[in-house]
Amino acid sequence: MRSVDVIRTKRDGGELSPAQIDSFVRGATTGEGWAPYQLSALLMATLLRGMSPAETAHLTRAMADSGTVLDLSDVPGPKVDKHSTGGVGDKTSLVLGPLAAACGVVVPMMSGRGLGHSGGTLDKLEAIPGFRVGLSESEFRSALRRVGLGMIGQTADVAPADKTLYAMRDVTATVESVPLITASILSKKIAEGISGLVMDVKCGHGAFMKSLADARHLAASLTRVGTANGLRVASLITAMDAPLGRLVGNSLEVIEAAETLKGNGPADLTDLSVLLAARMVQLAGLAADEAEATQKVRTALFSGAGLEVFRRCIEFQGGDPRTLDDYTRLPTAPRSMQVVAHRSGYVSEMVAGAVGVASMVLGGGRERAEDGVDHAVGIVCLAKPGDQVRAAEAIYDVRYRSTARLMAALPLLEESFTIADEPPPRAPLVIEEIA
Ligand code: URA
Repeated sequence: MRSVDVIRTKRDGGELSPAQIDSFVRGATTGEGWAPYQLSALLMATLLRGMSPAETAHLTRAMADSGTVLDLSDVPGPKVDKHSTGGVGDKTSLVLGPLAAACGVVVPMMSGRGLGHSGGTLDKLEAIPGFRVGLSESEFRSALRRVGLGMIGQTADVAPADKTLYAMRDVTATVESVPLITASILSKKIAEGISGLVMDVKCGHGAFMKSLADARHLAASLTRVGTANGLRVASLITAMDAPLGRLVGNSLEVIEAAETLKGNGPADLTDLSVLLAARMVQLAGLAADEAEATQKVRTALFSGAGLEVFRRCIEFQGGDPRTLDDYTRLPTAPRSMQVVAHRSGYVSEMVAGAVGVASMVLGGGRERAEDGVDHAVGIVCLAKPGDQVRAAEAIYDVRYRSTARLMAALPLLEESFTIADEPPPRAPLVIEEIA
């Protein structure tokens, strides 16, 4: 089979056969028969012409099979994970992983690092002194057996075809293709050896999917293609206009996750974490209906069972569990500065993307994949949309290390919120659910 013929088929709007897709994925994994410019030509043809559900499902499976697919059948219990398309202040994984595990779900969570304005679960976990996200496969299996939860990074042998293709998409303006995003996300999730997946598709200013139409398209594709590959999938579209919770930045987000597991979390973070964990419990078959699943998760939250799982997870993965009781053990920024309201009124808008970029500029996130992160810095949102504020009252408390970085972040924060005479209408956190 000649790669040029595969490219021509897609360029002309045709449907690729399973053998043609296998050839492309083999080319991305080993280089065999496909030069990098040919891989990128097919990516562009796919972005422009799209793929049918059957093509996307086959691409997903082939990309998963390009590397190791964990077989967790020797670990007792239903395996379910959650994946978010990325947001600002989104620390739900740190809350719902322990909650779902406390309800009997086995959670083999493989996460990524943050890039651009959105944070990554691994960076947050690494704010905890000693926490190892690079467990060996046998350590990961023991974490799942003993704690019910393992939180690690994707190893080099998980979906290697995606590593090549994702890097190529980034530099060829082909990231924004629903079939390619679907295959990229699901191939890595299938490799975890799970039977169920809850997808949190973020929608709004601070999200990858800015419009509801795009978010719906992606959520429907993820559900359909996941199901075609044997997963039970629930996809929720949730709002990402303002940051989730009040704390943005790695150490700060660990603190907010811990407070949420202690029952003291902000309402949006608590509600979303409970809802997503309840869906995990349902997909795991551990509750007859939504009401029973929600009740189980609420009990895990208010009894402290979820916090206890998080403590055991931190301990198992080499971290210092005392951080959950004493937040001064986490990296702490040496300086802080407040951004204040320029007038009295109600905070009517807070642009999550701008807060996320400001946190990245402070050093809390990375602009390029190879950059390091400063776990200590971040932003405390002292007011959120709907809150009443007086002129000169603080909106943000910025935790920083470098004055130069602060100076670059301040204009973004000053422009990121709007104050109006009336409170904004209450926006729902969950916009839609596609089961
Ligand atoms: N996240 C992924 O893992 N892949 C994409 O293509 C987009 C978001």
